[in-house]
Amino acid sequence: MINFSPKQKEVWRNTILQHHRWNISYGAVRSGKTYLDYFKIPYRIRNARTDGLILLLGNTKGTLERNILDPLRQIWTPLLVGHIGSNNKVQLFGRECYALGADKINQVSKLQGAGLAYAYGDEVTTWSEDVFQMLKSRLDKPGSCFDGTCNPDHPQHWFKKFLDSNADIYSMSFTIDDNPFLDPVFIENLKREYQGTVYYDRFILGRWVAAQGIIYRIFADNPEAFIVDKAPPVAFCTIGLDFGGSKSGHAIQCTGIEPGFHGVVTLDEDYSKKEMDPDQLNAWVVAFVKKQLKAGYRVIEIFADSAEQVLIRGARNALAKARVGVPVRNAIKGPVVDRIRFYMVLMGTGRYKVMRHCVHTIEAFSTALWDDKKLEDTRLDDGTTNIDTLDAQEYSTEKYQRQILDMIILGGDASGNTKAP
Ligand SMILES: Nc1ncnc2c1ncn2[C@@H]1O[C@H](COP(=O)(O)OP(=O)(O)OP(=O)(O)O)[C@@H](O)[C@H]1O
Ligand SMILES: [Mg+2]
Repeated sequence: MINFSPKQKEVWRNTILQHHRWNISYGAVRSGKTYLDYFKIPYRIRNARTDGLILLLGNTKGTLERNILDPLRQIWTPLLVGHIGSNNKVQLFGRECYALGADKINQVSKLQGAGLAYAYGDEVTTWSEDVFQMLKSRLDKPGSCFDGTCNPDHPQHWFKKFLDSNADIYSMSFTIDDNPFLDPVFIENLKREYQGTVYYDRFILGRWVAAQGIIYRIFADNPEAFIVDKAPPVAFCTIGLDFGGSKSGHAIQCTGIEPGFHGVVTLDEDYSKKEMDPDQLNAWVVAFVKKQLKAGYRVIEIFADSAEQVLIRGARNALAKARVGVPVRNAIKGPVVDRIRFYMVLMGTGRYKVMRHCVHTIEAFSTALWDDKKLEDTRLDDGTTNIDTLDAQEYSTEKYQRQILDMIILGGDASGNTKAP
């Protein structure tokens, strides 16, 4: 039996029984914004004009498959919902449609000049703005329309500006509590993951708010809750290394990963603002790594700032000369906001710990600020707080970020859905 939430029913009434060119559901994660679309999309496609194209856009083709096409196929069977071909075409409900990633403009440039009868958009705030501008200019046929969803971002985001414009828009906001189909335990866990952070406002309450002030609020409010005097058992360790520049210091972190990826603990640290020549720097790295091995920590790899290839080679050679068999790899250096959110979730769920003697780490997590002058979420990096230690800390865990988050989310999600918010 198919049942809809009151919010979903309201959206259906306002977007199907009434016509608006732009139909937007935004708000909290897992709040039921997309589910309704598994029923809207077939309706739209069957009723779309035949003299225009049908286009589905997601952040990438992969996320579009995962968030939209896979669930559609489960409901409507592979007979009605095909797979995206190499030519970006997909058969949906008897019509040939296009499915594209919208994170870069070049991916949709092929569609320039084509008029659209219907467009669907997943994760709109993650798109390139140029793609959205192109979409606006193509959705020009009488009766053509767009359905889309997103999670809120900062209030100056281009899509928020569009939502506030006088275009023919119906928009509906969702909070996590608008989805009665979620297990209350799952909702509680999700709330805990984001408590005290900007993501709570965005992903739980569904609000467009700026990232301001202290970043790791729950750590800053009560560092003692995260500090341990004795290391918990760890499965293995990694080291993160950030080389200093003119203003910044050298930072190195030894991190333990708990068995089953259950948590992360900062076991040891060093931070130096001294001007070191290459030999001194290498000796400093070797001494730190040796100290960890001597303490019995099974360090399996070192992730070092990939912008400094010469220094990485130097460290590699020095470790080899000292007969320390730990490989030095390039840090992944993914988006900083992803790394920040990872530590916030760890802290929110009680999965981050730090040894008491790691004073730089404790200080760095306590004082890190959002940069209020930037519109995009940006960590303040003007030399007044120690970002080097945070970089090194993040390099040490970036490789396992996805795995650990999946573990946390799977642990709490009764629906078995592995999508990370
Ligand atoms: N009417 C419904 N009946 C049954 N299950 C539902 C219904 N609405 C939503 N759900 C379930 O709730 C979960 C979240 O719904 P949905 O994917 O629509 O959320 P969302 O708001 O799009 O989340 P996100 O922002 O993370 O993409 C899914 O597992 C979905 O199957
Ligand atoms: Mg969704």
